[in-house]
Amino acid sequence: MASSQPGLNRYENDIDHTPNHALAELSLSSKTIHADDYLNVGQDVAPPLHVSTTFRYDRDPNALKVWTELKPGPLPDSHIYSRYTAPNTTRFEAILSDILKGPSLTYSSGLSAFHALLVFLNPKRICIGDGYHGCHGVISIHQKLTGLKKLNLDCDPSELEAGDVVHVETPLNPTGVACNLKAFAEKAHSRGAFLTIDATFGPPPLQDPFLWGADIVMHSGTKYVGGHSDMLCGILAVHPDRAKEGWFGKLFSERQYLGNVMGNMEGWLGVRSVRTLEVRVERQAKNAEALVKWLHESLTSKETWGDHHAVKEVLAKIEHASLQEEDIKEGWLLKQMPNGFGPVFSITMKEQTFARRLPSKLKLFHHATSLGGVESLIEWRTMTDSKVDSRLLRVSVGIEGWEDLRDDLLQGFKALYDEQQEELRA
Ligand SMILES: Cc1ncc(COP(=O)(O)O)c(C=O)c1O
Repeated sequence: MASSQPGLNRYENDIDHTPNHALAELSLSSKTIHADDYLNVGQDVAPPLHVSTTFRYDRDPNALKVWTELKPGPLPDSHIYSRYTAPNTTRFEAILSDILKGPSLTYSSGLSAFHALLVFLNPKRICIGDGYHGCHGVISIHQKLTGLKKLNLDCDPSELEAGDVVHVETPLNPTGVACNLKAFAEKAHSRGAFLTIDATFGPPPLQDPFLWGADIVMHSGTKYVGGHSDMLCGILAVHPDRAKEGWFGKLFSERQYLGNVMGNMEGWLGVRSVRTLEVRVERQAKNAEALVKWLHESLTSKETWGDHHAVKEVLAKIEHASLQEEDIKEGWLLKQMPNGFGPVFSITMKEQTFARRLPSKLKLFHHATSLGGVESLIEWRTMTDSKVDSRLLRVSVGIEGWEDLRDDLLQGFKALYDEQQEELRA
């Protein structure tokens, strides 16, 4: 838990990112467009960009308050220094706090948010599965610093103790497969451990991990919240009950000393981007589901010629939450992801050479790492993650027309097949 070092917790009862109850009934898009209205003090419709790192004190010497008396936070005239708060980031955090349904802080990247989470909870054990390899890199640093012990996600609950962390990423990187959050909440809370969720692959409106027992929800805001592949961002949202116990204020205090805040430009970009979160993510999730359905039909088709056949000749496997038939039948998956399964899926090719060569055949997919932007990406995952099957490609679906994406993939699969046939003939 957070340190009680003097000075460190100075602001913890002052900062206020309480979700704005007046907005509680509004739709997600209405919130992303209006949750920061109360911070809009100028005549600008589009938020102005504030680049200053430091903010003037009152000119009236009698009105001067020393820093321990100042109340930093979302009020527009309350900024002191941008390592604490800054106008654009504060507006962005006001919106995030509303849409994530818990007071939220931003960080310089998803991994720096995860680092801040571990510094704050300082668990003895962390129970974690595969998923994004970078989080395991952060854990290695904590293992060096604190002796943090790593347990498998499916470990026996008796291995956990109060104050430990169960950290679940869902849907998972790189496959797009979803996990049952309620089951993990029961496991963690039965032992007094905390449940932290990396919900990067399932942003609003797809899932709300607080409904299923999360204590802290983390996002790499670099992905869907940013949505345009042009900003790094990490987010921690705290369950409102935990915020009442002082978690949010402590995280805020610690961030001042970790210094891992976003730059002013990112705060501005964040507001610009999050405005369109719902329309982007809905479209991306629908596109992904349509593509997965089409690929799955090809894989299961009996045709011995034509498009389905060409796909089947090169593709071995496809993974995505929409294909978790058992979990859909059991009911938990549709309850936890009622608005779509996430815009990332993975395909495993029959041969490694197909996986290596497919991205260069495509015209609409960039061959690049990361995900969540409006443009579709495909990554031969071996490029950045040595642990995954070297035949696997991760697909991050953008907002293009899904039929265009399907046709692009199809011509790519056909080109691979033709190449192979030529080689066989040679
Ligand atoms: C699931 C997940 N969590 C965390 C991160 C780290 O985010 P960032 O790159 O913003 O540090 C990523 C990055 O790909 C991710 O996919």
